[in-house]
Amino acid sequence: MADKERKLKHVGFIMDGNGRWAKARQKPRTFGHKKGADAIIDVLEECFNNGVTVVSLYAFSTENWSRPKEEIDAIFDLLDNFLKKYSKKLYEKKARLVISGDLSPVSKGLRERCEKLVADTACFNEYVLNIALNYGSRNELVRAFNLLKGKGEEITEEDISKALYTADLPDIDLVVRTSGEMRLSNFFLWQCAYAEFYFTDVLWPDFNKEETKKAIEWFYGRKRRFGGIENA
Ligand code: IPE
Ligand code: IPE
Ligand code: MG
Repeated sequence: MADKERKLKHVGFIMDGNGRWAKARQKPRTFGHKKGADAIIDVLEECFNNGVTVVSLYAFSTENWSRPKEEIDAIFDLLDNFLKKYSKKLYEKKARLVISGDLSPVSKGLRERCEKLVADTACFNEYVLNIALNYGSRNELVRAFNLLKGKGEEITEEDISKALYTADLPDIDLVVRTSGEMRLSNFFLWQCAYAEFYFTDVLWPDFNKEETKKAIEWFYGRKRRFGGIENA
């Protein structure tokens, strides 16, 4: 494979295990979410320092609405705080914020913060932080097909890619899921078509720079063939 295809450009994190982390400490689940939110900054820094230019974070799925309201509110508050804190870093790093997902049902405060940051960082192109918020891949695909419905001509792969929230982002090269679960849970199905999958038992609040480095090193040990054969 050519060098550019070997390079790890886009990592997607399915940040899982906050609840179990809290439960193991006899604490409420929201305590786990708080620790989980705190873990994000170091992980992003480690990614960006290791040549990764796009990071996608699964923050809240379309299926997570089935959780208790108190937990949902806590997750949104933590996200709002994270963005408040991280906005300075976005400007420093010239990182663009992308939100994948439908913001209409989230709280007004969070929605407005997201919209403002997305608009203000739209001019940056060195790094991208893509937050999947009220995101579900099937929902995204249905939305895309509806956007394309009136097109008239035959729909191409490129048309579909461009109608997704991740329109101008490269495909996901590496998916990292914490907490031992080995499933995608509706995370960027289209964009992960040729991704490598790294599963670890570490719970998200314990995921740190060292664990990030491990995942990146593991990726570089993989042989990606994209349907071809080696050294062809
Ligand atoms: C991931 O941790 C965070 C979100 C889904 C928002 P969980 O809350 O799913 O933690 P577990 O899987 O119950 O341990
Ligand atoms: C996936 O985790 C969603 C996020 C990390 C935001 P879940 O904990 O919701 O997924 P399932 O229910 O184990 O599949
Ligand atoms: Mg979970």
